[in-house]
Amino acid sequence: MKKVYIETYGCQMNQADSEIVGAIIKENGYDISSLEEADLIFVNTCSIRENAEQRVKKRLSEFESLKKKKPHLKIGVLGCMAERLKEELFKENRSVDLIVGPDSYRKIPQMLEEVSLGKRSANVLLSKEETYSEIIPIRLDTNGVSAFISIMRGCENFCSYCVVPFTRGKERSRDYRTILSEAKDLFEQGYKEITLLGQNVNSYMWIEEDKVVNFAQLIALVADISPLLRIRFSTSHPKDISLELIKTIAQRDNICKMIHLPVQSGSNVVLERMNRKYTREEYLEKISLIKKYIPSCSISTDIIAGFSSETEEDHKQTLSIMKEVGYDYAFMFNYSERENTIAAKKYKDNVSPEEKNRRLNEIILLQQSLSLESNKKDVGKVFEVLIEGFSKRSKEKLFGRTSQNKVVIFDKKDLKVGSYVNVRINDCSSATLFGEEV
Ligand code: 5AD
Ligand code: SF4
Repeated sequence: MKKVYIETYGCQMNQADSEIVGAIIKENGYDISSLEEADLIFVNTCSIRENAEQRVKKRLSEFESLKKKKPHLKIGVLGCMAERLKEELFKENRSVDLIVGPDSYRKIPQMLEEVSLGKRSANVLLSKEETYSEIIPIRLDTNGVSAFISIMRGCENFCSYCVVPFTRGKERSRDYRTILSEAKDLFEQGYKEITLLGQNVNSYMWIEEDKVVNFAQLIALVADISPLLRIRFSTSHPKDISLELIKTIAQRDNICKMIHLPVQSGSNVVLERMNRKYTREEYLEKISLIKKYIPSCSISTDIIAGFSSETEEDHKQTLSIMKEVGYDYAFMFNYSERENTIAAKKYKDNVSPEEKNRRLNEIILLQQSLSLESNKKDVGKVFEVLIEGFSKRSKEKLFGRTSQNKVVIFDKKDLKVGSYVNVRINDCSSATLFGEEV
């Protein structure tokens, strides 16, 4: 049997996509393997920032040297970089045999046939319909406890800095029945936590002649599978998050009390240039609704430092909104201009790298103190924790997560991975809670 090694970069959506690719290729006689044993290497790539692409390019040159030692080895570039750079990748890297865009994974078997005849093969057509709906993904790098389900594809928000609408095409939702059957199947296999994925899950919408299912209804249906199954989701767009969804999260114990709500900037001028379609005030209104209906909810965000023409005053507004919300967690990035995006065409990348770094460092330092503050509030409280595995530092300790998505470390005793345990928090750092079973 031939062997394929799949390496994934970028977002959770990409992880979910690699699992779909795994299923397609397995069906065609390949076994998933380690890098050392592989006859075929797939790199599922990300274009979101320049450094994500640089990392992949470096890796591809390593694979090029590997191919010199193993001439029969075939190399495929999948995902967002394949879509963005297309055949250019063939020119840049002599060892690349396949280029497969995010909507072309079903074509892989056919493409591999061409490759076996010594040709190079590319397919980067985007689709308005493809959702890989009925494909049952194989689970890669799994802990057997938590899994991803992709519920929609593409994005049409066109935030000015973002390459995703160009690499992943039109937004489309997947048939809710196939989502439910995938979730049930996972639960029956012993999985206890499912994360529903989409670029903007709040605009999920399945429409049939006599039926409409929106995201709030979908998440309720998934939550109904079992009270022992936890549900998370990512990512929400602040302009679309609905009161119906917030109330649904509040009403159901097994929908996790966490919302990832990317703010990007705290300044209205910058938000306008980013084409985010909300103001600071509107964003804060959504935050108050969340806090009102779900007082225990953790809130995380994404922040970009040094977007085009961002002034010191704009940056201060970002720091102030962070404090006002009191984020529990944040993903923080320097602005990276991406070719062909609206921002690249309309605005200058005119904040110097030094200034971007200085602002980003301030943002990171502030977030560390906010995370510590949030964690300190948990000391003394008891949380239900889903056990995910062993702590990296000690085989005697386990780790799991609270509904709020905070990592908790505690003694193993006779506890089992995949079960729920009540843990009292005794101590914390800015990144982790430490506790004991009660
Ligand atoms: N530069 C920096 N960060 C970006 N993101 C998206 N595009 C860019 C870019 N060009 C960030 C946003 C988004 C997250 C997934 O990545 O914060 O929410
Ligand atoms: Fe990266 Fe965005 Fe593509 Fe995910 S969708 S892989 S974050 S560019």
